[in-house]
Amino acid sequence: MTAASATGAFPHTRMRRNRRHDWLRRIAAENTLSVNDLIWPLFVSDRAEDCVGIPTMPGVVRYDVPGAVAAVGRAKALGIPAVCLFPSIDPKLKTPDAREAANPDNLVCRAVRAIKAAHPEIGVICDVALDPFNSDGHDGIVRDGYVINDESIAALVSQALVQAAAGCDVLAPSDMMDGRVRAIRAALDESGFLDVGILAYSAKYCSAFYGPFRDAVGSGGALKGDKKTYQMDPANTDEALREVALDIAEGADMVMVKPGMPYLDVLYRVKETFGLPTVCYQVSGEYAMLRVAADAGCFDYRKIVLESLTAFKRAGADGIITYFACEAAAWLKETA
Ligand code: PBG
Repeated sequence: MTAASATGAFPHTRMRRNRRHDWLRRIAAENTLSVNDLIWPLFVSDRAEDCVGIPTMPGVVRYDVPGAVAAVGRAKALGIPAVCLFPSIDPKLKTPDAREAANPDNLVCRAVRAIKAAHPEIGVICDVALDPFNSDGHDGIVRDGYVINDESIAALVSQALVQAAAGCDVLAPSDMMDGRVRAIRAALDESGFLDVGILAYSAKYCSAFYGPFRDAVGSGGALKGDKKTYQMDPANTDEALREVALDIAEGADMVMVKPGMPYLDVLYRVKETFGLPTVCYQVSGEYAMLRVAADAGCFDYRKIVLESLTAFKRAGADGIITYFACEAAAWLKETA
């Protein structure tokens, strides 16, 4: 048998031909990760003792407001299009009605104003959810042990309006109450915030992968019970499509799937079905998993991060919220 017929087929299909050279692999690549895909989440705090590393997220720190302004400046210089802000507020300010969420001078609003004043060109995205402000650690208001929907929406709308007034570009309801996108859109429009967008956390699963985030914003210790009565069951995907369809009907400009890596099938279906800008969130537990294992020598840090981010692109993500955003942007710059 000659070498040419080694595969037994004619014409001699050899898949490896297109993999032979770097230049050829670059041409053949179906998806490309770029800095334009990356959204960087960062944690802010007012208390000096809190502005330290987060033990369950090695390499991630909480910034005070001036520190956050400087960090966002570095992200902007790397070409990152947008950041998400998450507050770690003084536990003394946490109440069962989460009223601090609606304070126009709360930590998030002050951080948004300072960041937008210094860096108007970078997008600022804020969560709409009560968990950082709620003494129960829940995303909505708890009554008799149950997170109640409609009163929670009223609180979320107030939170959304103070964040929009502070200059937030995109509001990202992550609370999973029913009807919140419609209520927030209507309130924004009535208040003249026609250009403030909504990135709906539409397919947000009740996931153990959020553990380190809850340490970072200090909601984990406070959390009573779990979030199963409002976040999605990890067993479901048809339900994710219904969630997305509703949020689009209610006025979402972009939708999100969260967590990321364990839910690539959901991401794929959402993008295939609806086609609108779809963001996935590589959450804190995914960050920790890759970072801690890389630190332990299990695999190469840079390679594992870029592979994981490329996988989101392949599955259909337009945007990726990732704690690796700044490092990945710097690596992409090096190889550009
Ligand atoms: C709050 C919120 C959470 C995350 C983003 N917004 C946690 C939760 O729902 O308990 C998780 C992000 C991460 O783990 O990185 N509603």
